[in-house]
Amino acid sequence: MNITVFGSGYVGLVTAACLADVGNRVLCVDVDPEKIATLKAGHCPFYEPGIDSLLVRNAKGGRLDFTTDAARGVAHGEIIFIAVGTPPQEDGSADLQYVLAVARTIGQHMADYKVVCTKSTVPVGTAAKVREALAAELAARRLALPYDVVSNPEFLKEGAAVEDFMRPDRIIVGTDNARALDKMRQLYAPFNRNHDRVMAMDVPSAELTKYAANAMLATRISFMNELALLAEQVGADIESVRRGIGSDPRIGFHFLYAGAGYGGSCFPKDVKALIRTGGEHGQSLQVLHAVEAANEHQKQELFRRISAYLGSVKGRTIALWGLAFKPNTDDMREAPSRVLMEAIWAAGGKVRAFDPVAMETTAKIYGERADFTLVDSPEAACEGADVLAIVTEWSAFKAPDFARIKALLKTPAIFDGRNLYDPAAVQAAGLHYQGIGRARLG
Ligand code: UDX
Repeated sequence: MNITVFGSGYVGLVTAACLADVGNRVLCVDVDPEKIATLKAGHCPFYEPGIDSLLVRNAKGGRLDFTTDAARGVAHGEIIFIAVGTPPQEDGSADLQYVLAVARTIGQHMADYKVVCTKSTVPVGTAAKVREALAAELAARRLALPYDVVSNPEFLKEGAAVEDFMRPDRIIVGTDNARALDKMRQLYAPFNRNHDRVMAMDVPSAELTKYAANAMLATRISFMNELALLAEQVGADIESVRRGIGSDPRIGFHFLYAGAGYGGSCFPKDVKALIRTGGEHGQSLQVLHAVEAANEHQKQELFRRISAYLGSVKGRTIALWGLAFKPNTDDMREAPSRVLMEAIWAAGGKVRAFDPVAMETTAKIYGERADFTLVDSPEAACEGADVLAIVTEWSAFKAPDFARIKALLKTPAIFDGRNLYDPAAVQAAGLHYQGIGRARLG
């Protein structure tokens, strides 16, 4: 099939590359000429495992191309994906101007039947707005061309996006139209493993499914984070509790890890958006208000602990392992590391940080500052620092030389925001250790 993807960001490019890889001819359109030039030169503008080789292979094979020419994009695709950004506005709501601009562009240029598919995470009701925007352009051209608008939300995890696309649990297709559904089924047929993964439903249900999934996962995390704090108070170990409840198949093991709080481009934004949608319909989503408040509190937890341990962080240096909001990405959006670092700086402390891939992104955010040093190894972060804090569970941090860390730190203590170690083993090595919700020893 001929497919067009508007928006060469994270979601758009993963979608485009994976659809090309199963034999479709995919054209990516973006307004940013620099980005298109980078992609044409065979480079991916962000870090994501597996994406580079897919882009290169499919571009070479003639199945994937990039352009700034919107008219060409509209002419090319039988199915047109809208995967442009929906940045939060000042009041927290998603800015739909780019999504609706693409809808208008399609209306201005289309000459035959199109399936227009919203892929960006958009509030419930957006597909209807896309339909209206497109219809207005067709009306202005005095044309009555056929088209259908479909909601097809993505469930890609950063760091595992290619795998998630290639081996989906489910493919949600929201549509009120059999012809569009047929086309979508045909498009996704190569991704049905063992059984049909496509779930057809009405448009608002598809739109709400995306938010419901992320809000449910965020809820599990906030719940576990609160329980972890309670576990410490009552002398319980959250890891034992996690195993104990996860083995109930009604609960399951996923997304039950207590930690430094959830971050990223999706959970914080989507929880807010769903609360807002509730508000617009006169319903207060009380559970989600609490999920959000618990997460804000959790993101401050490491700072509270370090301050309490040291008395004050003023004039102290904190070694920091991990900056990205989770491993295998350079994404710093809503990362718990930011809350920790900013709190340390505000209190007059310094940070020496290491991250395997997110240091460049971090340097762009914070620039040069006297109280911040980026170093090129985990050990170098500990040199001359008072204590060590861990915020991201990169594999490289999982089996460190504790004796070496002890020798490097002035006040040998590890504040582990991701529960990477066995508390007894770290303490046996002579370091003070605090995980999140781990039983305190001695
Ligand atoms: C998420 C959804 O998983 C994905 O389906 C959706 O399309 C986009 O949002 P992503 O933001 O890439 O994906 O990361 P994810 O792996 O889900 O982690 C989100 C945050 O939750 C991270 O900050 C992570 O550290 C935190 N987390 C996750 C926990 O604190 N505990 C857990 O048990 C799991």
